[in-house]
Formats: sequence, C-alpha cells, structure tokens
Amino acid sequence: MRVVEIARGRADAAATATALRVVTEVAEATGARPISDHLWLDLQGDDEPGPILAIARDVTGPLGVAQVSSGNDAWSMEAFARPGLTDAHDVVLDLVESAVDRFRSFGGGRLFWWVDDPDDADDRLATAHGLQPVRALHEMRRALPHEQTADIETRPFRVGVDDEAWLAVNNRAFANHGEQGGWTTDTLTSRFAEPWFDPDGFRVHEVDGRMAGFCWTKLHADADPPMGEIYVIAVDPEFHGRGLGKQLTLAGLDSISERGIGLANLYVDADNEAAVGLYDRLGFSIHRTRRAYSGDLAPYPDTAPEQSQEPA
Ligand SMILES: CC(C)(COP(=O)(O)OP(=O)(O)OC[C@H]1O[C@@H](n2cnc3c(N)ncnc32)[C@H](O)[C@@H]1OP(=O)(O)O)[C@@H](O)C(=O)NCCC(=O)NCCS
Repeated sequence: MRVVEIARGRADAAATATALRVVTEVAEATGARPISDHLWLDLQGDDEPGPILAIARDVTGPLGVAQVSSGNDAWSMEAFARPGLTDAHDVVLDLVESAVDRFRSFGGGRLFWWVDDPDDADDRLATAHGLQPVRALHEMRRALPHEQTADIETRPFRVGVDDEAWLAVNNRAFANHGEQGGWTTDTLTSRFAEPWFDPDGFRVHEVDGRMAGFCWTKLHADADPPMGEIYVIAVDPEFHGRGLGKQLTLAGLDSISERGIGLANLYVDADNEAAVGLYDRLGFSIHRTRRAYSGDLAPYPDTAPEQSQEPA
C-alpha cells in the first residue's frame, strides 16, 4: 500500500532529510538531479517557511517527492518518482494531487507546475486543478567540439569583483523573465557555493572595459553521458544584434570542450525566438520540452488569514 505524507519544509526536519536523501539517490542513479536548482537550494536552505513537501512511501521506503517552493512572484512545483518503478507516473500524479491540496490549505497563490514532456494524464490533472499550460522550456543539445571556435576575447568571472556589473547586465537582459530576472547578490552568491561552480567556465566579454555579455557554463561530469550546460547566457541589450550572442555561445562551448566534455545542453523558453534561432543555427536540436502549467489557486474557505502566503 502507498501513502503520501505531507510536510512544511523547515518545520519538519525528518521530511526534509528524506527528500534530500531521495533527490541525492536519484541524482546518483541517473546522473541528473530530478529537481531544478531553485527547488534544490530551497530544500537545503533555511529561509522560513520552507517548501511544502509531499513524500510517497510504501513498505520499501520513499518512492517519490513533490515539492512546492516560493519564487520571485509565484510558487513552483515539481514532482518525481524513483527510476524503475512500474507505476512511477501514478506515484507522481498522487504526489501532485496531495501537494496542490496542501498548497491550497496553506493559503494558495499563483502556482507553476513544471512537467517534462507532459502527456494526457498530466494535462487532465492540471485542468482539474485549474492550471493551464503557460510556458514551454526546450532542453536543446549538440555534440562537441563545435566546428567553429569563438573569435572574441573572453575572460573568467572574478568572484567579488564582477558581481555588481554582472547583476546589472543579467537583470537588464532578463528584465521580462520570471526566474532569471531580478537576481540579487544573495541569488548569485548562493551559486558560488555550489560544488559545480567554476569561474573559468563563466566567460565574460568586455567592450571598452565594460561587461557587454557573458556565458556561464556548468559541467555535469557525472551525468550519463557527461554534459556541459550553457547555464546562463546574455548580452546587455545595448550590445544586442552585433554577433556577441553567437560568439559568447561559441566561447562557452569552447570552454566545455576544453574540459573534455563531448556534449552540450541548455534550457531555453520555446518563445524566445532570438535564442532558439541562435542555438538552432549553431547546430543544437530539441531533446525534450518541459511545460509549466499555471493558475491562481484559491485558499480553502477555512484557511486562517494568518496562514495565507505571499511568495518570498
Ligand atoms: C539571445 C541573445 C544572447 C542574443 O544575443 P545577440 O548578441 O543579440 O545575438 P547575435 O547578434 O549574436 O545574433 C545571433 C543570431 O540571432 C539572431 N537574432 C538576434 N536577435 C534576434 C531577435 N530578436 N529575433 C530573431 N533573431 C534574432 C541574429 O540575426 C543572429 O542570426 P545569425 O546567427 O543567422 O546571424 C540576447 O538576445 C539576449 O541576451 N537575450 C536575453 C537573455 C536571453 O534570452 N538569453 C538566452 C536564454 S537561453
């Protein structure tokens, strides 16, 4: 028999520890962490009130986890089951059902549910909860080395020196972007503490001594196959359309190849025509598509006003 336990992050250390353990085990087994960076950092962090967690179990132990974490102006939910379960998809649907239910009883709000290559069952569940498809994110990949190399100069990011200039360029370039826009010093420094962070793989291009753009890469050396990700790339809007986006992408790919990795990947919004076109012309193709379903979920009528929640 399968049960789903619900916890509110920080208040339930045992549930948090279980979720951390399952995420780590799945990452070790598959070579890829089953939740996004934002949720992973929230799971490990200490900001109150912490994520909502739903954990499915049977007699063998935990089977999967759903997590709801606050973002800039909304909440994000992701769910996964252990690989190899014959009823993995049912486990995920149960987890989502429970997590949404608890989200509403904690006060509701705007929720984004992210799903990889969703099917009809995901569509039905989303619709039943008033969530509509709103965003699609492509994972694009290509083999390395690239036949072209960058012909602009780039240098490594300097931690503590480039932070402010980088935040300004990033936030200008991603002004209309939910997660990548509006970064603060805290968001940036939390990435420096990640084990994968490598300033040499964070390439910066300057024009007349001013940061004009950057390409920040992230290696997944333990993934199967090992991959190098273009993690964040942007050109200051003042310098758009001069070929820097293409050159910075090539600089990032050069940096990944030089570290011995033969496959590149990246995530891009399906409606970001400038970026999708750029990657397409550089030989990337779509590997999978993540979709976000979203809606404003009302609190249950008996939710106490003090429980209602604003995202952090
Ligand atoms: C995507 C981005 C990096 C492109 O930078 P850029 O310096 O303006 O791009 P480039 O001048 O090198 O142009 C690269 C190609 O994209 C095309 N392109 C550029 N802007 C475009 C636009 N708005 N619409 C359609 N195509 C566009 C160019 O014609 C060029 O095509 P080519 O390779 O056939 O010559 C830049 O628009 C940006 O920083 N956007 C905001 C951040 C972002 O979306 N990052 C990517 C997230 S995955």
